[in-house]
Amino acid sequence: MIQEVLFTELFMMVSNTRQFLRRQIKNRIELLLCLVCCSLISSCGQKDKKEHQEPSGVPEEKVVVKVDIPAEIMSSGKAVYDQYCLVCHQADGSGVPGLNAPLIESDYVQGDKEPYLTILLKGSLDGPSLNNGAYANNMPGFVQLKDQELADLASYVRNSFDNTGELITPEEVAEIRNKKD
Ligand code: HEC
Repeated sequence: MIQEVLFTELFMMVSNTRQFLRRQIKNRIELLLCLVCCSLISSCGQKDKKEHQEPSGVPEEKVVVKVDIPAEIMSSGKAVYDQYCLVCHQADGSGVPGLNAPLIESDYVQGDKEPYLTILLKGSLDGPSLNNGAYANNMPGFVQLKDQELADLASYVRNSFDNTGELITPEEVAEIRNKKD
């Protein structure tokens, strides 16, 4: 009789322990699976983020500040350009490959006033060639034009063909013209 009771007690203990262990293992497996899923999801998210952060090779947008040049200066400058410059530099300022320099993205046109006005007044006949002989023609000087004409022309070219730059005054032209070199 006592043996029987003992045996059932023992049996119950064993089966309870097994059930307990099985439940423990099941919980552990569930927890593990959950962790694996979470880490996968978070690593995917990071990859997406990285792709968004590195748009390599996309050029930054150029900030172009347009300068307001009075319309009458633009139109008188264009008249001088059409008469004296268009033949070589073309109506769109693109020049002629191998013959005449383009006036688009030109350091002279958009840079400091002095070298710009100097080449307009004196050309590039004497002195070292600007682009190491890249152009077969020479740029003639336009010293015969009046200060006002040259100033309007210089302002017009500086604010055409996608260029942008400050207004140039007749006084500034006179100053460069009268400079002793
Ligand atoms: C006979 C053709 C000819 C005529 C006309 C001419 N140019 Fe030029 N221009 C050239 C050549 C060639 C160059 C390049 C000179 C060099 O590299 O030495 C040049 C260069 C220039 C440059 C410097 C460009 C750079 O970035 O190197 C400017 C600015 C310019 N010319 C403006 C003018 C303007 C404004 C006129 C009209 C008043 C004019 N040119 C008339 C042929 C001409």
